[in-house]
Amino acid sequence: MPKVFLKTYGCQMNERDSEAVAAQLVSRGYALTESESDADVVLLNTCSVRDAAELKAVGKMKFLAADFRKQKRKVVLGFMGCMAQARGRGLLEEMPQVNLVIGTQKSHKMADYLDAALAGKALQVCDIAEEVGSQSKVHEHLSVLPGGEAPVSAFVSIMQGCNQYCTFCIVPQTRGMERSRSIEEIVAEARALVAQGIREITLLGQIVTSFGRREIPEKDGKSAFVQLIEAVHDIEGLERIRFTAPHPKGFGEDLIEAYGRLAKLCPSAHIPIQSGSDRILKLMHRGYTAERCLEIIAKLRRVHPSLGLTTDIIAGFPGETEEDFEQTLALVRAAEFDNAYLFKYSPRQGTPAAEMPGQVSQEDKESRHARMLELVNAIAARRYEQLVGTEVQVLVEGPSKRNSARLTGRTRCNKIVVFEGSDRHRGQVLDLKIDRAGAFTLYGDPAWVNLE
Ligand code: 5AD
Repeated sequence: MPKVFLKTYGCQMNERDSEAVAAQLVSRGYALTESESDADVVLLNTCSVRDAAELKAVGKMKFLAADFRKQKRKVVLGFMGCMAQARGRGLLEEMPQVNLVIGTQKSHKMADYLDAALAGKALQVCDIAEEVGSQSKVHEHLSVLPGGEAPVSAFVSIMQGCNQYCTFCIVPQTRGMERSRSIEEIVAEARALVAQGIREITLLGQIVTSFGRREIPEKDGKSAFVQLIEAVHDIEGLERIRFTAPHPKGFGEDLIEAYGRLAKLCPSAHIPIQSGSDRILKLMHRGYTAERCLEIIAKLRRVHPSLGLTTDIIAGFPGETEEDFEQTLALVRAAEFDNAYLFKYSPRQGTPAAEMPGQVSQEDKESRHARMLELVNAIAARRYEQLVGTEVQVLVEGPSKRNSARLTGRTRCNKIVVFEGSDRHRGQVLDLKIDRAGAFTLYGDPAWVNLE
């Protein structure tokens, strides 16, 4: 049984693609391994969204190639995902030991390529769609979850691609145009997952709020996305629904209202603001203003005062002045996010922003990033601290990564809680009292765990 070491870089979309490839390989007689030291195949599922992500994957592959060569081990090496799609054959030229470069819309053929490579048939193969168009189907979950312990939470891909064309973003180039699955197909998949014990489903896509907007007409003032949430909400045995990633412009009245009406829809939202300067937002082609973001957040908090809120921010977009950046700081202060993913702008080849005047120096990017991080951490620390002494509902996911003697789960507002309990609590919803807050982690009081 050939062993595959599969490592994933980047977004949850990639995590989901890796799950699908893992399931495909397992069903074809491959085994997954946790370590490259006993692997027959190394597959890196890559990300192109920033240069740093590309450098990491390339660095890892070069290191492994050299190491395997030194050990005289023959290991099949492959790239998949966005960087494979964007750089194609160039990767084979740069790293002659690499055997496979498989684009974002070709990973359903991975087992065939590995079979051939292990049989020594094809030394180097590059299979990427010439054009990442709308022809490829959105992949589905296979009915068997790959190995290991039964997970409690699963991603369901509802759409692929993106038509927003944010000027900084490479995704339209690597993942193609928006295409959505049908509500029936998604519900059937979600139902099958729930039947296997999944309690929480995260609807996944590049911009989920654009789901089906061309194919599925509005019904009673409800967008296709809200209709989808309602249909998934009807699945018996499903405990929680989340989605990622939305676009701020997708938070219409129908979605905000759904948060109050649909009990399984968790009170947490990721609202990627990117910047707090309207001038920069326009240059980014984002389609909203800072004020509109605050309005959405205020409306959501009116529905759920305890709403969990996260965001994405880019520091140092071309043309960003100190004043623009201060407007972003001001928006972050006003919004009070629980956490934020902070990025230094990274020029991506072929995107409009890479050619814009006023590229910001690395030094300024670093210092703005650091100042933003300090602000985000201070706000987060205060907000996490405020939860000490409160009672929260936790869906138990399993042993904590840091300390396997303890359990971990998430609150409805999407905060991680670590507490004492045993493995039989996995998949259960427990009421816990929070007795301590750490950095982006809450600790529960075991006295409140219902041990029966
Ligand atoms: N540079 C920096 N950050 C970027 N992101 C996307 N493209 C870039 C880029 N070129 C960030 C955005 C997006 C997140 C997934 O990655 O904040 O929301």
